[in-house]
Amino acid sequence: MIYCNSKNVLLVIASTMAIFWLSACQDEDMLPAVGDPGELISALPETVQYPIDNPYTVEKEDLGRLLYWDPILSGTKDVACVTCHHPDFGYADGLKFSQGVGANGLGPGRSGGLRTMRNAPTVINAAFNGIDNNGFYDPALSPMFWDNRAESLEGQALLPMLSKEEMRGGAIAEGAIIDTIIQRLYAIPEYVAKFEQAFGSNDINQDRILAAIATFERGIIANNSRFDRYMRGDLNALSGFEIEGMNAFIQVGCADCHSGPMFSDYKLHTIGVQDNINPPDRGATNTFDFRTPTLRNLSVTGPYMHNGIHETLEEVMEFYEEIAEGEDDALNSNVSENQLDPEMQDLQLDDDQINEIIAFLNTLNDNSFDKTIPTSVPSGLPVGGNID
Ligand code: HEC
Ligand code: HEC
Repeated sequence: MIYCNSKNVLLVIASTMAIFWLSACQDEDMLPAVGDPGELISALPETVQYPIDNPYTVEKEDLGRLLYWDPILSGTKDVACVTCHHPDFGYADGLKFSQGVGANGLGPGRSGGLRTMRNAPTVINAAFNGIDNNGFYDPALSPMFWDNRAESLEGQALLPMLSKEEMRGGAIAEGAIIDTIIQRLYAIPEYVAKFEQAFGSNDINQDRILAAIATFERGIIANNSRFDRYMRGDLNALSGFEIEGMNAFIQVGCADCHSGPMFSDYKLHTIGVQDNINPPDRGATNTFDFRTPTLRNLSVTGPYMHNGIHETLEEVMEFYEEIAEGEDDALNSNVSENQLDPEMQDLQLDDDQINEIIAFLNTLNDNSFDKTIPTSVPSGLPVGGNID
């Protein structure tokens, strides 16, 4: 019975139920043994963890929401966090590469201004980054970015404000931008009051700005996909075809990297995705390796890969199929086959499995994340920046 069941499900069903399940399994046309899916992939926890030094309060979350939506945090006062991580686009932007300072519009229609070097990942569930298949993670150490170069949501939130392309612009020096932002916030009585409510005194400083934004982000979660419900024991939440897709996902080797409740091992891998910029993006270690991204909510987070090179899941699957078939043309021209991660070299994939796997990936969507849009922000600037 272990072949068609999960660890989590096993824990909850009584032994009489297990007997029914066992006979149901035997009737099915099973793939070869894939082991217990729950050993590699599992449901997300029902609640999110907060770091010991930044516990949840509703006042901090409210302040964080305003800061996240307010372009006052950008040097040029035209870009907010939400400009590139917007609820209408799955807390990402639908672009290959994000357009920051000086650009106009929202989502795939945004253009002009300064461009970033990478595709914007979603903020949905970033609170769970680093989680392992037993549900363990330390929110103070959660890895962030395509190359894991930042730690925790607090640590990450500083970097867009410093980045010239994303939020700072060219006019204010990197070393001066945070002080500039703090002075601007002090000049707005509503912010002074909200910092006092959130932190017990009206000091406005870098740590408090980051703590508030991170607290807001920890509320942007989607942990109740059909896959989650299935793994928690609702055996009708997935169709037979989708369960076959789940088994295929494990059997062909996807879950060797896309593992745990987030479908990421949070490690860097060389998988040989092709370049679309010059000079090519060599990642943090100069070896074309990137972090395994989450596979949750793919319906709203395209285009895919660190450089947004694939528009659809079909295209992504074709890439993996070509690699599995040893077609060198599919590879980044700077990477040879023997430089690929061993898990990539072992990949086996045929046409039938592609449709099943895509069906399974679609069970990881959960559209129930918070989409609240504030009607105004304390600076009085356009909500979300220059996005109309
Ligand atoms: C101009 C667009 C843009 C703006 C503005 C922006 N980001 Fe991002 N964000 C990106 C891009 C691009 C990346 C990926 C960069 C990389 O991996 O090197 C990213 C990565 C992230 C991540 C990492 C997610 C993960 O799973 O690793 C988080 C969290 C995040 N941004 C939050 C924020 C916050 C908070 C702000 C405001 C303080 C912000 N972003 C402003 C484009 C933007
Ligand atoms: C060796 C580890 C590894 C294996 C095996 C692997 N992946 Fe990936 N996957 C990655 C990495 C790393 C990326 C990001 C690469 C980049 O951006 O350059 C990625 C990207 C993706 C994306 C794009 C997600 C996004 O938001 O951009 C999808 C979808 C995906 N993989 C699905 C699969 C499927 C399905 C399989 C099995 C056929 C699979 N992967 C096998 C490591 C792996």
